[in-house]
Amino acid sequence: MSHVRLVNVTKRFGLVTAVDSLNLEVSKGECFSMLGPSGCGKTTTLRMVAGFEDLSEGEIYVGDRLISSPGKNYYLPPEKRDFGMVFQAFAVWPHLSVYENVAFPLRVRKLSASEIEKRTTDALRSTNLLNAAKDSPADLSGGGKQRVALARALAINPDVMLLDEPLSSLDPHLREEMRFEIKDLQRQYGFSIIYVTHDQSEAMALSDRILVMKLGVVQQIDTPFNVYNDPANKFVFSFIGLSNFLEIAWSGDKPFPRGSGAPLPLDLTPPDAMRKAKTFSLASRPSEIDFGGEDGLRGVVTRKSFLGEIIDYQIKIGEGEMRVQKSRRTPGPQVGETCGLSLRRPFWYTGTE
Ligand SMILES: Nc1ncnc2c1ncn2[C@@H]1O[C@H](COP(=O)(O)OP(=O)(O)O)[C@@H](O)[C@H]1O
Ligand SMILES: [Mg+2]
Repeated sequence: MSHVRLVNVTKRFGLVTAVDSLNLEVSKGECFSMLGPSGCGKTTTLRMVAGFEDLSEGEIYVGDRLISSPGKNYYLPPEKRDFGMVFQAFAVWPHLSVYENVAFPLRVRKLSASEIEKRTTDALRSTNLLNAAKDSPADLSGGGKQRVALARALAINPDVMLLDEPLSSLDPHLREEMRFEIKDLQRQYGFSIIYVTHDQSEAMALSDRILVMKLGVVQQIDTPFNVYNDPANKFVFSFIGLSNFLEIAWSGDKPFPRGSGAPLPLDLTPPDAMRKAKTFSLASRPSEIDFGGEDGLRGVVTRKSFLGEIIDYQIKIGEGEMRVQKSRRTPGPQVGETCGLSLRRPFWYTGTE
């Protein structure tokens, strides 16, 4: 069942179209991420869902209920949407105790004293903050402050949790730990999540589905697996996971890597769609390349870096290069050696898209 639904949602700021005809449906209990580079319209979208920003066009629904529609001049105010919200900055009130930070929105909603105590205590327990209830949030670490913000959002018992880069100001170790805590809380409370991030590994780890956005335009909406395995276009391919692009040009009827005297090997025959392009890209993931024999794609090792479990090779091919990542247990060539590459799964792209 669709829980939150955006229909042709568009937001313009003057001449800038921050969000362009966005359609999406988030199911009940789903963790849905919006992923894209800075400035692509993620925060604007979340603010429209929250009710902080009006729409230029389109409609937003929760279940069957319309909550935003410029056409009908209707906006349900943010406080009536009852969404939980956590933002990147540590938005806690330093002059209130941790307990009061969590209880405050419940007091504003005029819940009974016993209900306020129960919900506040539950939320503090779920976020491991019971022992810090009397402290000032100013004395907590960044992770602690974000837990307070999470607890405050949880206490209102939201159906939908809106999270805008909530972990990006934390250090990497804590960031990873808190991903799991958010998933645990979701299981416990059952809310749907709309999660905004520019960090693809965070989106992959957390989400049931990911929306990849570029300049306000949806590029793909799919599971993490499909977005990685079947990227809709070159942008998605390059934004998710590690990627290699080698520029190829036709010379006669043979495809040559730019600056290389040797044409691509036969097992890398470009698909027909590349025939009309003057130049195009051969793309692959560094982890999906093997060192092959004489008949592979020829290149010279220019760098070999030990990264622990994996070795990262940089291979120069004509004027371009490809990275290859292999287990340190796999034998590989040395710097300066010529090698043949076999691409397990080549992708082909014309133009920049
Ligand atoms: N209040 C505003 N006034 C004018 N332009 C804005 C405003 N808010 C956002 N924008 C513009 O809208 C675009 C999308 O911004 P934003 O939604 O913040 O992106 P993201 O969260 O993906 O980094 C950007 O070009 C940004 O400059
Ligand atoms: Mg943002």
